[in-house]
Amino acid sequence: MIKKCLFPVAGYGTRFLPATKSMPKEMLPVVNKPLVQYGVEEAIEAGLTEIGLVTGRGKRAIADHFDVSYELEHQIAGTSKEEFLSSIRDVMHKATFSMTRQQEMRGLGDAILNGRRLIGDEPFGVVLSDDLCLNSGEGDGVLSQMVQLYKQFRCSIVAIQEVPEDQISKFGVIAGEKLKDGIFQVTDMVEKPPVEEAPSNLAIIGRYILTPDIFEIIENTPPGKNGEIQLTDALLTQAKAGCVLGYKFKGTRFDCGSVDGFVEATNFVYNNIYKG
Ligand code: UTP
Repeated sequence: MIKKCLFPVAGYGTRFLPATKSMPKEMLPVVNKPLVQYGVEEAIEAGLTEIGLVTGRGKRAIADHFDVSYELEHQIAGTSKEEFLSSIRDVMHKATFSMTRQQEMRGLGDAILNGRRLIGDEPFGVVLSDDLCLNSGEGDGVLSQMVQLYKQFRCSIVAIQEVPEDQISKFGVIAGEKLKDGIFQVTDMVEKPPVEEAPSNLAIIGRYILTPDIFEIIENTPPGKNGEIQLTDALLTQAKAGCVLGYKFKGTRFDCGSVDGFVEATNFVYNNIYKG
């Protein structure tokens, strides 16, 4: 029912400079696969095979990654090395890719608004690929869990996790009424609050299901924290007018937008997936 998934990948990734000076953060490899490919594989697993990339200047490597590389592929065709391409070929076979560009980095809300033409008037997923979510061996991926929840509630859903106090100011944070184990109806939402102003310790991470009325709400959302158009602010408006759910997902999330989280993810994937 939900077919499309938006990947806002226009950010500068300043926390990874100088690595990200000319290379997109989303192409940083966790062992042997770029972050964005993990995200796309998660979307495909959830049945979201129409991928929309909101890119920006200096991000061509992302679009190229999901396209054929003729010289390279010709060179290694028929050799044992061809096997290394199997995962990306599988992704390219199962999904389609469309791009649009965000001209100025005006925040996540603005990036999503830029994707409006690619989405149209239907519910869609959003993946921030610097949040690497793994649920290996434990069942469905995070986006897949959220799609199942959407079928039941038919409203926007944000993935949440409990975070320690000293981390709270890095996230959007929700307050909510518990509907069931792990499912909250959002009553408040604050972007990157100081710990004493945080409404709870339930932090929003980079997985969303959004209903398309969010676009008009974003259009009418003024710049918020850091002068950026914040998706959190638009979601709060949506929550007040109707319903937004917070969903405590099953699985592990690594903040690969930070060096510490990236190294942690690399060790985890190397030991548990790559070496198997
Ligand atoms: P982040 O704030 O984590 O990414 O945005 P960043 O700005 O690239 O990283 P730092 O803080 O400078 O190191 C979360 C996601 O939203 C996208 C980013 O690409 C990232 O995937 N984003 C953010 C946009 O696409 N456009 C924006 O204007 C802002």
